[in-house]
Amino acid sequence: MIGKIIGLGSYLPEKVVSNDDLSRIVDTSDEWITERTGIKKRHISDHKKETTSYMAGIAAQRAIEDAGISGSEIDLIVAASTTPDVVLPSVACTVQHAVGATEECGCFDVNSACPGWISAFLTAQSFIEAGRAKKVLVVGAETLSNYVDWTDRGTCILFGDGAGCAVLEACEGTPVTSIMRSSYERGDCLYCSNMKQPDRLDDEDFIKNTHFQMAGRDVFRFAVTEVPKIIKDVLKKAGVSADDIDYFVLHQANARIIEATAKKLKIDLGKFPMTLQETGNTSSASIPSLMNEMKKNGQLQKGQKLVIASFGGGLTWDAAYMEY
Ligand code: UT7
Repeated sequence: MIGKIIGLGSYLPEKVVSNDDLSRIVDTSDEWITERTGIKKRHISDHKKETTSYMAGIAAQRAIEDAGISGSEIDLIVAASTTPDVVLPSVACTVQHAVGATEECGCFDVNSACPGWISAFLTAQSFIEAGRAKKVLVVGAETLSNYVDWTDRGTCILFGDGAGCAVLEACEGTPVTSIMRSSYERGDCLYCSNMKQPDRLDDEDFIKNTHFQMAGRDVFRFAVTEVPKIIKDVLKKAGVSADDIDYFVLHQANARIIEATAKKLKIDLGKFPMTLQETGNTSSASIPSLMNEMKKNGQLQKGQKLVIASFGGGLTWDAAYMEY
């Protein structure tokens, strides 16, 4: 048995922040952001209402509705998030409540930064392949705006908030082929080392490290080197060629990274759908949200062959081949 995606859903916060809006708070411009990243706007949560769990819950409800099933049929929820609202309960447990899943449903979170949704998806596949679950929610949800330094023009222009979810159902089919890679050694170009602590608000060094710290050029170099390589490796492992693939569904971080990947692999850029113009980088929410958009606009069709790939803090980078 393998897990087929039978439903997709996503949620983006109501508030939209354009590049021009950002140019009023940091020294930047629409022209610079568009040229260097492709991003035009991003959605930023109302932190009192649109928490990570709230967005995850709505994305999951929408995915369940899209699948045409009931929340009580779900027997496993795996949620990916780097930015949960609380330490306990897990995001997955809050989704259980939001969708009306029963106590027979297992719930847990994974954190592998931007590739988190792929890690959660592969975990779900393993449960299904082992016969331990039949209908699974795989959620990616982030409130990155809580961890962004809004005075740092090098990072604050990149990120947005949101959530995405897929429903997997056990059925016969071609197994997903995957590769997961990580490097603590190379991780110092992207990190966030301190959790927020209310009694340390006056400790400047501590506060600095409650924000994402990033050496943008190093992360860029890592991405344009490793993403094409892992895609090549996963195609080889699956025994398929790039021509066989309908879409390469990549983490939505930067249009230049996606363009460089397409170029290195000598694949038509038209096979690399993008939503980052509208959303910015939503970390683990980016791939399921993009797939949901592709489904809504008719790009995604049953039986298509897809490669999903992502990269992020840790460092971590994953890729998978699947038949949709
Ligand atoms: O999920 C993974 C998350 N991280 C990423 O995906 C990050 C990957 N890296 C990138 O996307 C790019 O490195 C950035 C978009 C972050 C930066 O683009 P870049 O082409 O690598 O620019 P840079 O960092 O080399 O900076 C070029 C110049 C610098 O000025 P000087 O030193 O040449 O005078 C920066 O200070 O651009 C300046 N700069 C900006 N200017 C206007 C940096 N950020 C901005 C900004 N607006 N927002």
